Amino acid sequence: MPDRSRFYVTTPIYYVNDRPHLGHVYTTMVADVVARYHRLIGDETFFLTGVDEHAAKVSEKAAEMGMTPQAWADQNATAFREVFERLEITNNDFVRTSSEHHKAAVSRYVQALLDSGDVYQGDYVGWYDAGQEEYVPDNKALQNDYKSEVNGKPLIRKSEKNYFFKLESYREPLLAFYAQRDADGVPFVQPDARRNEIVNRIKEMDDVPISRSGSGGWGIPVPGEAEQTIYVWIDALFNYLTFVDTDADSPMGDRRKFWQAGAVHFIAKDILWFHAAIWPALLLALQKCPGFEWVNLPRQVYSHSYWVSDSGQKMSKSLGNFLDPAAIDNYVETFGLDALRYFLSTRGPLGVSDSAFSPELFIEIYNSDLANTFGNSCSRVANMIGKYFDGQLPAPLPADDPAYLPLKQSDWVGEYMRHFEVLDLTRAGDAALQPVRDVDSFIEQTQPFRMAKDETQRPAVGTVLYQCTEALRIASVLLWPFVPDACEIFWRRIGCGAYVDMLADNGSGHWEQLTTWGQLQPGTPIEKGAALFPRYDAERAG
Ligand code: MSP
Repeated sequence: MPDRSRFYVTTPIYYVNDRPHLGHVYTTMVADVVARYHRLIGDETFFLTGVDEHAAKVSEKAAEMGMTPQAWADQNATAFREVFERLEITNNDFVRTSSEHHKAAVSRYVQALLDSGDVYQGDYVGWYDAGQEEYVPDNKALQNDYKSEVNGKPLIRKSEKNYFFKLESYREPLLAFYAQRDADGVPFVQPDARRNEIVNRIKEMDDVPISRSGSGGWGIPVPGEAEQTIYVWIDALFNYLTFVDTDADSPMGDRRKFWQAGAVHFIAKDILWFHAAIWPALLLALQKCPGFEWVNLPRQVYSHSYWVSDSGQKMSKSLGNFLDPAAIDNYVETFGLDALRYFLSTRGPLGVSDSAFSPELFIEIYNSDLANTFGNSCSRVANMIGKYFDGQLPAPLPADDPAYLPLKQSDWVGEYMRHFEVLDLTRAGDAALQPVRDVDSFIEQTQPFRMAKDETQRPAVGTVLYQCTEALRIASVLLWPFVPDACEIFWRRIGCGAYVDMLADNGSGHWEQLTTWGQLQPGTPIEKGAALFPRYDAERAG
């Protein structure tokens, strides 16, 4: 076995009460592009997504629907799973927090934290709205003059028994951990601006309640306390660990190696605090417990911003402006799944600013990068090979032949990898297109269609076209994480259909070969085929 490095990537687990929308699809597609990249370069990769089921809203909604919470959750979890399947997301497992495996593992972790004293029993004191049966945050209570926002009755000062996590005692260890990661050159939280916000907030953090009462049996009980349920956020965060906390004896197989590779968590800024403070603190606490010494901390939390509507509002269910599964399907039908993947992952809000989802920009990027660049270049080269070489890949002249015209190559692969390593998908996508742009300039410069008119120049034309095809082959390898379907079609057309199988393995280790110049065999039939990305004419399409 080659010694492959490992890679573990996750998305948030989405509230099962929601219908999947563009926001969920976005984070999942970004994680999918990154997972595919790591498989491509040969890393043994594990990619996890799924749903978060134990929110109070789930049992409330189920009661409204006359269903059990489990039946309601089952139905909605299926909707998420189906959307991700249709979008060809390559997750290795799908989290359901109602699974027995997850529940048992969370109970074990919380028991260990109770034993170590990092989870303790205390009193939660707050302003309670009896009509709504809920606590109102202090600032909101003050704003409403300590009256219910709903029925105007005075709020009650109430206290209840809760379990708390000693978050405050992890302030210094957490700051030291952040400093260590900075010193290692891989800051724990990205982008940098987000990291700075969190570090300031860590300095002021207090203990947090990690249980609630009255959940009516929906959720994971605190060990030994049937009345108290583990707070849904704690239950949810642990998914990243429970689903890979399995050894070779488990039907899930040995997955701890993935945890130990250092998880990369993709999330949006709405849930950064949980991931950047509470989660690493819980892990620091757990790794001190007997039997959990192997639990290291994640590699990174990448907190992106939001897709917003043209008018700048966050897409969400309550605002009713989200792209729902039907609208997403519509894009896929019109432009293809690859186009949606490419647009979302390269033009999305990965940085600190939000991105407006604009149909016009979608069309512009589709036409410029996919139709006019990659798609067009593939057609052009295949057409010339059809015309001048009977559809067979010509042999290039030896590189030292005076008639050899060399295609200018920059460090295509190195550039691409450098951007992927820092999760800059916009630049990584651009770097993947660089060989295509180089092919276009090479054709402009050498004009093979002119040279072809002179029979004696045929070997030089063949040299040009061989290099163009080879450069497009390398471009297609680099583009694969973004537009896998088109690349796979292209590979079959140039006699590289075997790549599909080479990449089917979870971390293939063929990277060196795939990206080394000169893989194509002269004489290989080159199929023209239909346009990989037909140009979209908005006016003609109406
Ligand atoms: N269940 C929690 C997460 C627990 S993770 C241990 C939750 N679920 S959620 O369904 O509300 O999903 C939130 C996530 O969905 C965001 O962090 C982000 O990944 C994605 N998005 C939701 N709306 C979004 C946008 N408008 N834009 C981009 N991503 C968004 O929070």
